[in-house]
Amino acid sequence: MTPARRSLAPLALAVLLLLHWAAPRAVVQAATPAERRILLDFKSAITADPDGALASWTPSGDPCADFAGVSCDPATGAVQRLRLHGAGLAGTLAPSLARLPALESVSLFGNALSGGIPPGYASLAPTLHKLNLSRNALSGEIPPFLGAFPWLRLLDLSYNAFSGEIPPGLFDPCPRLRYVSLAHNALQGAVPPGITNCSRLAGFDLSYNRLSGELPDQLCAPPEMNYISVRSNGLSGRIDGKLEACRSIDLFDVGSNRFSGAAPFGLLGLANITYFNVSSNAFDGEIPNIATCGSKFLYFDASGNRLAGPVPASVVNCRNLRVLDLGANALAGDIPPVIGTLRSLLVLRLAGNTGITGSIPAELGGIEMLVTLDLAGLMLAGDIPVSLSKCQFLLELNLSGNKLQGVIPDTLNNLTYLRMLDLHKNQLDGGIPVSLAQLTNLDLLDLSENGLTGPIPSELGNLSKLTHFNVSFNRLSGIIPSAPVLQNFGSTAFMGNPLLCGSPLNNLCGGQKARRLSVAIIIVIVAAALILIGICIVCAMNIRAYTRRSKEEQEGKEDEEVLVSESISVGSPGQNAIIGKLVLFTKSLPSRYEDWEEGTKALVDKDCLVGGGSVGTVYKATFENGLSIAVKKLETLGSLTNQDEFEHEMGQLGNLNHPNLVTFQGYYWSSSMQLILSEFVTKGSLYDHLHGNRRRAFSRSSSGGELSWDRRFRVALGTARALAYLHHDCRPQVLHLNIKSSNIMIDEEYEAKLSDYGFKKLLPILGSFEVSRSYAAIGYIAPELASPSLRYSDKSDVFSFGVVLLEIVTGRKPVESPGAAIHVILRDYVREILEDGTKSDCFDQSLRGFIEAELVQVLKLGLVCTSNTPSSRPSMAEVVQFLESVRTNS
Ligand SMILES: *[C@@H]1O[C@H](CO)[C@@H](O)[C@H](O)[C@H]1NC(C)=O
Ligand SMILES: *[C@@H]1O[C@H](CO)[C@@H](O)[C@H](O)[C@H]1NC(C)=O
Ligand SMILES: *[C@@H]1O[C@H](CO)[C@@H](O)[C@H](O)[C@H]1NC(C)=O
Ligand SMILES: *[C@@H]1O[C@H](CO)[C@@H](O)[C@H](O)[C@H]1NC(C)=O
Ligand SMILES: *[C@@H]1O[C@H](CO)[C@@H](O)[C@H](O)[C@H]1NC(C)=O
Ligand SMILES: *[C@@H]1O[C@H](CO)[C@@H](O)[C@H](O)[C@H]1NC(C)=O
Ligand SMILES: *[C@@H]1O[C@H](CO)[C@@H](O)[C@H](O)[C@H]1NC(C)=O
Ligand SMILES: *[C@@H]1O[C@H](CO)[C@@H](O)[C@H](O)[C@H]1NC(C)=O
Repeated sequence: MTPARRSLAPLALAVLLLLHWAAPRAVVQAATPAERRILLDFKSAITADPDGALASWTPSGDPCADFAGVSCDPATGAVQRLRLHGAGLAGTLAPSLARLPALESVSLFGNALSGGIPPGYASLAPTLHKLNLSRNALSGEIPPFLGAFPWLRLLDLSYNAFSGEIPPGLFDPCPRLRYVSLAHNALQGAVPPGITNCSRLAGFDLSYNRLSGELPDQLCAPPEMNYISVRSNGLSGRIDGKLEACRSIDLFDVGSNRFSGAAPFGLLGLANITYFNVSSNAFDGEIPNIATCGSKFLYFDASGNRLAGPVPASVVNCRNLRVLDLGANALAGDIPPVIGTLRSLLVLRLAGNTGITGSIPAELGGIEMLVTLDLAGLMLAGDIPVSLSKCQFLLELNLSGNKLQGVIPDTLNNLTYLRMLDLHKNQLDGGIPVSLAQLTNLDLLDLSENGLTGPIPSELGNLSKLTHFNVSFNRLSGIIPSAPVLQNFGSTAFMGNPLLCGSPLNNLCGGQKARRLSVAIIIVIVAAALILIGICIVCAMNIRAYTRRSKEEQEGKEDEEVLVSESISVGSPGQNAIIGKLVLFTKSLPSRYEDWEEGTKALVDKDCLVGGGSVGTVYKATFENGLSIAVKKLETLGSLTNQDEFEHEMGQLGNLNHPNLVTFQGYYWSSSMQLILSEFVTKGSLYDHLHGNRRRAFSRSSSGGELSWDRRFRVALGTARALAYLHHDCRPQVLHLNIKSSNIMIDEEYEAKLSDYGFKKLLPILGSFEVSRSYAAIGYIAPELASPSLRYSDKSDVFSFGVVLLEIVTGRKPVESPGAAIHVILRDYVREILEDGTKSDCFDQSLRGFIEAELVQVLKLGLVCTSNTPSSRPSMAEVVQFLESVRTNS
């Protein structure tokens, strides 16, 4: 006798007196010891009980009173129900459970039980009403004997791993079965026809299996049948004609099968139907007139079939419809405007019916609750009705792939919850409304493949939730906003807009397209104009070509000797002598050792010396195939201390690429010699052209006159673009810090090619103050660089570039020394003349046929760029904008 039962007996009277307050459990009879053993046996088959759901199942407890999840017949004390939901129990079903004599209900939903249903459970037949083993890991075949259980009303084996066929015995004779779910298993074969012999059956769910064949005839032979789901199987054949007897259907779902013939639209008239899904089958024919429609009908999905004919206007008889999805069929004709009267509609999808024509009915704006409107891939023409802005709860608007015209309504900002706006592939024109930037919940904005014009509003950068953005293939123009939110989508989101420029596209802002000037640049222009008030009167200085041999050249000569000795050992035949590392960034260069042997001979040849500079001497090396490259022999490693650092720096340079940059082609490292290889630019440097140094072999034919204003302007613009690229498009930003006219090369087409960029770490100037004072490029150096604090920035480059601009217009060097102790600083000179003299006195006398206004603008820009305070200089991006506007305005 259990302790519980012993204590109950003396108290029986009291208990009876208290009966009307006490819980029913207080008078429950205890289970027999045999039943307790069976339950403990069930527990012992459980291998994992993560939540301790069976902790109360102890050998000393009374199953009826103490065991969690067990309930007994109050009269007899026999165990009737076992209910353990979501306890994570693992293990197997103990066969002994079948010996519980009065077990009516077993509900073990949501555990991790595995193995099969033990054959011994057949002996539960006399008592079992309900078996719910849904959401476990059970496998094996479904035992047929369950069909013979006379009392079984509910069988749920869904979400397991049962396999094999559905045994016909399961539905023979099934006298009381009301509901059966075998969904989400791996069952194969046919649906047993006997299922329609279960006269009490009200519903079955066989969805998400691998069933095949046809559905049984007369599915509604059981008169109360209201729930039929066979979604996502491989069932086929016709089903019209099999549903004639149906009167009570509530849910009907045959989606994702291979059914054909006419779809059973007749069900839509049933009084209790709420859900009708025949999607993704091969149903054909037309949707008939829906004369009567169930007032509870909410979900209508016939998408993904071969339905033809018009979109039935009679669908409005389904007054309470929430979802209408007729997408991906072969429907044709117009969208009936009356659909706009379906006030409860949340989802309207007609996408992918390529025969649907006409326009978007303005009436759709009357569907106040609409959440999804998907009319993509139809043949709709006309405008996007402004009335759609009234659907203020829209989350998804997909009108892509039509022939819509006109502008994007700028009232769409009314759709404050909108997450997806897909208008791609239409014929929309006009601008992108700035108001779209107010749709802060947008995560998808696709306007690609239209004819949109104008700029991309920078305000779109406020759309911080965007995960997809595309404006490619339009006629947009201007600069792509720099907001990272937009930049992150990469160049393919912007491509196909020839007038669009800036990062992440490769085309730099150029062309003849007028652009809105930024506030900063307008201030620059105003400031420049102020400088010019009270304009210059006299400027009589005549500028002569400067022919004295430069200091750099003399330095170059010394190096030549050093090189000779090294080259002799390198070039000696028979010795495998290039002991070092040669890295080529380009495949167009020869990579055989012998070719290089030939090429390096250039380093010995005095005639090949083409230039010198602060970091090294430049030679022209020509290979046997006629290809030439520029080889810079470094004189200093600046702040670099070893090969790794050197190689790291050079590797970074190899990644830079811009039409106005001299391309790096590789480098060579040995402990005694470091070379940088780059593109050889044919026409020499801007310095040579402006200041007429004819000694150099390549510039024999060139003269100041050859560099017309037009070409000079292009050189200035090209250089500015290259610098803007280095400053604004490169991560990390690349500073030049050594801009001077001798570093601006000129190619065959008279385009500028900036060289010596990215040598920040190689420059001696940044290493010591002393060096900077004697630095050869003096005159280009921003004041902040010549101070001991060395707080350089991209604005230091802007200063040097400003000096180059002045040089280009005046033809004068940054610093001239007409007398031994006299130095004329170009900037001050220009400033003085502009203040006291005639503007044109500053112009290079060799210039002919120019537009004076352009020269003046460039001079002004040069002066603003050479402001003493870095913050009052414009950025290179602004300089580019300004130069572009100079050309457009004149
Ligand atoms: C099985 O039990 C779960 C959990 O209570 C329940 O959601 C599910 O509807 C039951 N199955 C049937 C067919 O009633
Ligand atoms: C359905 O029941 C009838 C009569 O009770 C029987 O003749 C028939 O064979 C059963 N059909 C199936 C498929 O079990
Ligand atoms: C519709 O449902 C109600 C309530 O569930 C039920 O009483 C009625 O019998 C059903 N109608 C039909 C035709 O089955
Ligand atoms: C209809 O069934 C398909 C699967 O066949 C499913 O993807 C779709 O969401 C269902 N439609 C509705 C409205 O529930
Ligand atoms: C809009 O519809 C088209 C065509 O059905 C589809 O390709 C596209 O992915 C849809 N857009 C969104 C955001 O779902
Ligand atoms: C914006 O939405 C409101 C409802 O919130 C509606 O009354 C109004 O007409 C809409 N405005 C436009 C321009 O559609
Ligand atoms: C949106 O962007 C603009 C400019 O890009 C900015 O001035 C404005 O403050 C932003 N608005 C919000 C709400 O972030
Ligand atoms: C933008 O659309 C174009 C054309 O449809 C496509 O090629 C490109 O990959 C898309 N880019 C992004 C970022 O979605």
